[in-house]
Amino acid sequence: MEAIPPAPPRILIVDDDDSVRDVISVLLREEGYNCVVANGAEMALDLAGEEETPLVISDMKMPGKDGLWLLENLRERLPDTSVIMLTGYGDTESAVDCLRRGAVDYLLKPPKLTDLIRAIERALAKRRIEMARKRYQKKLERKVRDRTAELRSALRDIANTYQNTLLALVAALDAREHETSDHSQRVVSYTSAIAQRMGIQGKELEEIGRGALLHDIGKIGVPDAVLLKPGKLTPDEWLEMRKHPDIGFQMIQAIPFLDTPASIVLSHQERWDGAGYPRNLQRHEIHIGARIFAVADTLDAMTSDRPYRKGTTFTNAIQEIKRCANTQFDPEVVRAFLDIGEEGLIRIKQEMATKKLQLPQAEQDAHDAEAELARLTDLDDDVDAAVPGHSASDEDEPKSAVVRSVAGNKG
Ligand SMILES: [Fe+2]
Repeated sequence: MEAIPPAPPRILIVDDDDSVRDVISVLLREEGYNCVVANGAEMALDLAGEEETPLVISDMKMPGKDGLWLLENLRERLPDTSVIMLTGYGDTESAVDCLRRGAVDYLLKPPKLTDLIRAIERALAKRRIEMARKRYQKKLERKVRDRTAELRSALRDIANTYQNTLLALVAALDAREHETSDHSQRVVSYTSAIAQRMGIQGKELEEIGRGALLHDIGKIGVPDAVLLKPGKLTPDEWLEMRKHPDIGFQMIQAIPFLDTPASIVLSHQERWDGAGYPRNLQRHEIHIGARIFAVADTLDAMTSDRPYRKGTTFTNAIQEIKRCANTQFDPEVVRAFLDIGEEGLIRIKQEMATKKLQLPQAEQDAHDAEAELARLTDLDDDVDAAVPGHSASDEDEPKSAVVRSVAGNKG
């Protein structure tokens, strides 16, 4: 249904000739229109700007600024105002020009009342349709914008949920090994920093981060007797332990968005010189994410305190990693790693610690509860501490000469 305006639409009559202006306005007022008048183009532009004016009827030839000038200015400043031009007899050329420049109609002077009213009604009806179309268009655009925002927010939620699910999975593994999840998080940070140094960004960077986060996820499939065994593993137990990259790969490779992380999980124990496992890959056969991870993991293993030893300094760890470039590690990765520098690496570790302190309250509470649980578990462990050595999970397979010597050579 068409919306009925509460008052008759305002029509502005523009003519330098008083008599024409007055006759038209008087006639139109009698027909019930709300008329205002202007004796020139500039005055008309001012009046039209003061109040909503759906229609302007303007003479073409006026002293000073003419009808064309008014038409152009109205089109530019008040595009919702329709314009009907009044032209002199025989001036069809400029009348056509007016239509080309956006006038809705033109009438020859002096216009017949019936022609004038017909033209006004046509112009107003056309404008109403045009305004309705614009409103509809705006509404559509707003709807599209709202839906896009909703969709974006839903995707963000999914991404967050997905990331939290991965974190929970890793936390579950860490809990089983009586480890805090700080190690995994720090390894992700070091891995991402090195990758960025190498110019990796966007989706590839995210996937490498996920691969680093999930690297040991396959340990979920390693029996407790092996994973949590205090002391050294037997050769058979090592065979079990060395299955974890394959188990991890099998676990996540079927999930399409974990395709690349799965490759990193599978090859995270490989070495540049081919002495790693499970496939003895070497050099560029190993996924770049896994080559970067190897350096990041070694750095964190060496610089973190363990129950049975203090972590070494960053200086020592960096020297050791540098020494193992070309054997254990991809030299290009080591170069990017060295580029970050000791200060940069220490800053990453500190940032991770600060992030932990800035957890929102709910997360903080959960974290406190977790810490309390860990403390109670530790008390249990202390009771059992008469057993010498340490759990197989305390130190992963040897990662470098230094780690190997500190870890008690389990490989
Ligand atoms: Fe591993």
